[in-house]
Amino acid sequence: MLDLIKKTRSYRRFNNSRKLDAEFMSGLVDAARLSQSGANAQPLRYVTISSEEMCSKIYPELRWAGRLKDWDGPVEAERPVAYVAVYADTEAPSVAMPQVDSGIAMQNMCLYAMAKGVGSCMIGNCMKKEINALLGVGERYNLLWIVAFGYPVENVVLTDCTGDVAYYRDAEGDHFVPKYTAKDVHLASF
Ligand SMILES: Cc1cc2nc3c(=O)[nH]c(=O)nc-3n(C[C@H](O)[C@H](O)[C@H](O)COP(=O)(O)O)c2cc1C
Repeated sequence: MLDLIKKTRSYRRFNNSRKLDAEFMSGLVDAARLSQSGANAQPLRYVTISSEEMCSKIYPELRWAGRLKDWDGPVEAERPVAYVAVYADTEAPSVAMPQVDSGIAMQNMCLYAMAKGVGSCMIGNCMKKEINALLGVGERYNLLWIVAFGYPVENVVLTDCTGDVAYYRDAEGDHFVPKYTAKDVHLASF
């Protein structure tokens, strides 16, 4: 499980010619809907997108790797082949905790995908109004996140953080992600 967690990185370059089928997409919805939920209120709803036509409409509304100032996002051949839009139902009971629930549901989708060799990237920086207009879900649902999926074509490497948490790429295009060490984050053990 720890190996799977280590592999489940944010991937932003994919093989656009390897598509994902309907069974995979409904597996993602299962991974999300079966997740833990505060008060079991289950306030989240999902839209899956895997048609080439809709993927090409969604892509321009997403913002990639804000810390990589000289990179605008993947070239056409390396764009995601599927997305899941994660919505909160505004009519869910007031005990619902959609922000927390959505983190859990997204991570379960990403783990499910990675276990099948499929990479993912959670995206919060996106043009929500424009995406809502494209997907036509209606005002009852509040778009929280988009999760992108595809078979990765990049190496993402975890490193021990030595001060700066900023991720970076080297000349070969490998992507490095500094993480605090256990010593940094593990305050105490009794
Ligand atoms: C809540 C959340 C929102 C994110 N939004 C974006 C985003 O808008 N664009 C993007 O390229 N990456 C986004 N990411 C990916 C983070 O940049 C990524 O998790 C971070 O760089 C650490 O890399 P790792 O996921 O491989 O550990 C987001 C991640 C999370 C958890």
